[in-house]
Amino acid sequence: MRKNSERVQTYGNPIIKNIILEVITLMLKKARIIGTGSAVPQRILTNKELEDIVDTSDKWITRRTGIKERRICSKKLGESTTVLARQACLNAMEMAGVSPQSIDMIVIGTVTSDRMFPSTACMVQEALEIEDIPAFDVSAGCSGFIFALTVANNAIRCGTSKRILVAGVERLSSIVNWEDRGTCVLLADGAGAVVLDSTTEEEGILSTHIKSDGTAGKLLYSADGNPYTPEILQDILDKKPFHLKMDGHRLFKRAINCLTSIAKEAMEHNSLSSKDIALVVPHQANIRIIQGLAKNLRIPMEKIYTNIEKYGNTSSASIPIAMDEANRKGLIMSGGYALLVTFGAGLTWASAILKWSI
Ligand code: COA
Repeated sequence: MRKNSERVQTYGNPIIKNIILEVITLMLKKARIIGTGSAVPQRILTNKELEDIVDTSDKWITRRTGIKERRICSKKLGESTTVLARQACLNAMEMAGVSPQSIDMIVIGTVTSDRMFPSTACMVQEALEIEDIPAFDVSAGCSGFIFALTVANNAIRCGTSKRILVAGVERLSSIVNWEDRGTCVLLADGAGAVVLDSTTEEEGILSTHIKSDGTAGKLLYSADGNPYTPEILQDILDKKPFHLKMDGHRLFKRAINCLTSIAKEAMEHNSLSSKDIALVVPHQANIRIIQGLAKNLRIPMEKIYTNIEKYGNTSSASIPIAMDEANRKGLIMSGGYALLVTFGAGLTWASAILKWSI
């Protein structure tokens, strides 16, 4: 491959040559993942244990969702959104061989920050002792990680950042209604992170696609927050805590359709077919949704990474946790194409294609 300086050797004027070189470098600039990390709570909550909490069974949960167990934060152990996010970021930086001080931006996808503000990203920045860099959260439901990755990718491509921590982290156990068997058996806690670095090679994040449809927001929402809406006032009158609410049945088909369309859009954008994809890392909401996606894309399940049986649905953390596991198992070879694809509250849905280069 020709070097950028060789491409402009025909231009004699050194000033023009430098300008052209800078423009070409900016045009070629991409972001690539140089490290992945994850962290999950110690406490394992099994389907069997849930049988004592709500009217459900291990058989129903396994058959209808693919989940066998999930991780739940323990206050006693000091686990929180920030603690998990910090550990996932440290693990990603350790793999990348970089120090916290070399990071120039932190972007975190989450809907379960420990506080309404400051953001989880700012609390992680403090925990990692990184000074004077931008740190902020992105709220996009289960699509939070790919939305955050998109923001970070754009910051590197336009040259405003060089090395960014991107994470997805949730503590859904804090907003789940533990009396609602339709949701409490699905949702859980965890964190995943990546270190993004800039590159001018043909590798890394080739594209991201992100979409939202606010008109369907009522299919999955948390009544928490300001200002007080009529629904929240009704909750107060009914003396119910403010919990996550979901119309799972209506979301199911919508999830498969959105995941399929945005995965196809990503492949078409890069002139890739299903056969070119080495590994799909989908959001882990329900094994039947993932199987529906695989069928629509004509991709065998062996090429789709799943760990839903161990962790349930950890929202914006599910893709970076799965990606970290797949990476550490050596399932994504350097030079192979990975497809990330997700769907969540908002509604939101998103995809990314990476040419793996760790
Ligand atoms: N244990 C036992 N029975 C349960 C149950 C549980 N945990 N949860 C629901 N049921 C019951 C329902 O009450 C219903 O009973 P009924 O027929 O007597 O009314 C029956 O199971 C079927 O309910 P349904 O909602 O149709 O089940 P389902 O097969 O659609 O599975 C979900 C429910 C939530 C697992 C599934 O719809 C889903 O995964 N939806 C999408 C979730 C999603 O994508 N979320 C957003 C993105 S993160």
